[in-house]
Amino acid sequence: MSEETASRVCLSQRAHWAAEQAISFLMAQGVENRDVISLAAGLVDEQTLPVALCRDLLNELLSDDRTARGALQYGTTPGAEALRSEVLKHLARLEGGIVDDLGVAADQVVLSTGSQQLLTSLADVLLDPGDICLVSAPTYFVFLGVLNGVGARTVAIPSDDQGMRIDLLADELERIAARGELNRVKLIYVVSDFENPSGISLSAARRQQVVDLAKRWSTEQRIFVLEDAAYRELRYEGEPLPSVWSFDQDRDTVILAQTFSKSFSPGVRVGFGVLPRELVAPVCNRKGNEDFGSAHLNQQLLNLALKSGRYQQHVQQVCQGYRSKRDAFLAALATEFRDLPEVHWVHPKGGLYVWMTLPDAVATGFNSTLFQSAVKEHKVMFVPGELGYPSTRNEDVVCRNQMRLSFGVQPVDGLQEGARRLAAAVRQQLR
Ligand SMILES: Cc1ncc(COP(=O)(O)O)c(C=O)c1O
Repeated sequence: MSEETASRVCLSQRAHWAAEQAISFLMAQGVENRDVISLAAGLVDEQTLPVALCRDLLNELLSDDRTARGALQYGTTPGAEALRSEVLKHLARLEGGIVDDLGVAADQVVLSTGSQQLLTSLADVLLDPGDICLVSAPTYFVFLGVLNGVGARTVAIPSDDQGMRIDLLADELERIAARGELNRVKLIYVVSDFENPSGISLSAARRQQVVDLAKRWSTEQRIFVLEDAAYRELRYEGEPLPSVWSFDQDRDTVILAQTFSKSFSPGVRVGFGVLPRELVAPVCNRKGNEDFGSAHLNQQLLNLALKSGRYQQHVQQVCQGYRSKRDAFLAALATEFRDLPEVHWVHPKGGLYVWMTLPDAVATGFNSTLFQSAVKEHKVMFVPGELGYPSTRNEDVVCRNQMRLSFGVQPVDGLQEGARRLAAAVRQQLR
């Protein structure tokens, strides 16, 4: 072997597909610019983290030797039986019914390391390179990276203030069928509640329609709807909407992904999926190769929190905290941008994000003058909206004049100062 050949690292195609993820760049920007107020970070508010509660729960778990040994041992690939049953009760509460009405058993619940692992596993077991996933646009940019990572073709369906445009989804499916590519469509991905990044929820009518469309076009093979309900429990006003999953009476089309990261703690990192029966074994086989079970201690901790009702109390406090931060941030934006009527933003009823739209000509991407001057000169950072659009296709759908602003991490004074700095940076571009 020559020295040159021996030193060459030959990575897999998948490693190339997974390269250059925006999330890593954003994290690095945050670290390199410590004096910047970050409205970019999508982390939860440190003050909401259940420190005392977790201390108590861990004490309880570890105070009895037998229970402690059980919790500190490996669990199983689909996750702790006790928590999977508790998750069904939790889901029944969210759906406003009882477990018997759900139409699924605990063995259709798979616990994962955050919902991210479930999303990744699903992409892996459903999508071959070249297969198609339809996504609302804009959407959760980390999942777009996951889709790139398996070589999928991602097709953007524009959304409006009711979420994904179902008429455009229907048109797209029609076009795909006409091209003879229906057999490549495997997945429709929607973030149903207070979407990351847009803050918008899919309307109840459209929830039914997306399920109907998926079933109607499942002529060559099943087209699944992946409902990512990561922000479902962070609701600050209005009545909860029935999940997309609840409209799938046969329980064979919608995959529901949820997480306890936002409502409880991302450090505990427990998520779950409620899967159509046929997907349970493939997802568990994949997970078996990866970790043969997520952190068992964390699952036991959450089980105790849910069972004792302390989780539910905690979520109420979390929502109160975020509600007042959202209100403070929206008020600050209204004040700071009052002389810039050409700038608009969504008033989210939940979640962690405010989605802002600037005039068409003002680009917000990493290389734009606005992003550069915001970070370097005005010391404020946001997530460029274009990250929420698939990069390789549907170029006409991509909006380059939007940004995602998070009110999750900053305290109220940071949000107010952040809004002031952002307005100054935008004003500089507009005037
Ligand atoms: C829409 C959405 N889905 C899923 C996740 C993954 O969260 P976790 O893996 O912590 O459950 C996030 C995290 O930010 C998200 O915003």
